Amino acid sequence: MPQYSEKVMEHFRNPHNVGEIENPDGVGHVGNPVCGDIMEMYIKVKDNVIVDAKFKTFGCGAAIATSSMMTDLVKGKTIEEALQISNRAVVEALDGLPAIKLHCSVLAEDALKGAINDYLKKTTGKGLPNWKPHED
Ligand code: FES
Repeated sequence: MPQYSEKVMEHFRNPHNVGEIENPDGVGHVGNPVCGDIMEMYIKVKDNVIVDAKFKTFGCGAAIATSSMMTDLVKGKTIEEALQISNRAVVEALDGLPAIKLHCSVLAEDALKGAINDYLKKTTGKGLPNWKPHED
């Protein structure tokens, strides 16, 4: 059985920022075709700063913990800063993930990028250059 850090277990048992944002400024909807897990991320943006983020994850414990941590990390960040948050940063903030669960953190990065892409498309008419979710 993979070993999960105490932080992963905390975020899995008590995920932060679960739910939907009413009238979000951006929504990311991604899925992993291999395991079938699905993640939705919602952001609220004010003056280029992500003031709120929420998620709904229909997936494994690591996917829930990484989306919980990702939504914590992006709050208060500018769009540019949020784009620098990689799945690796989320894994580090969770004190690591078992190797076979690293792909779950990629879903959290993709969901955030999807939400930012949606926000940019709505506000500037142009999304992130070459954005598309990772394929596993
Ligand atoms: S097993 Fe599918 S995201 Fe974790």
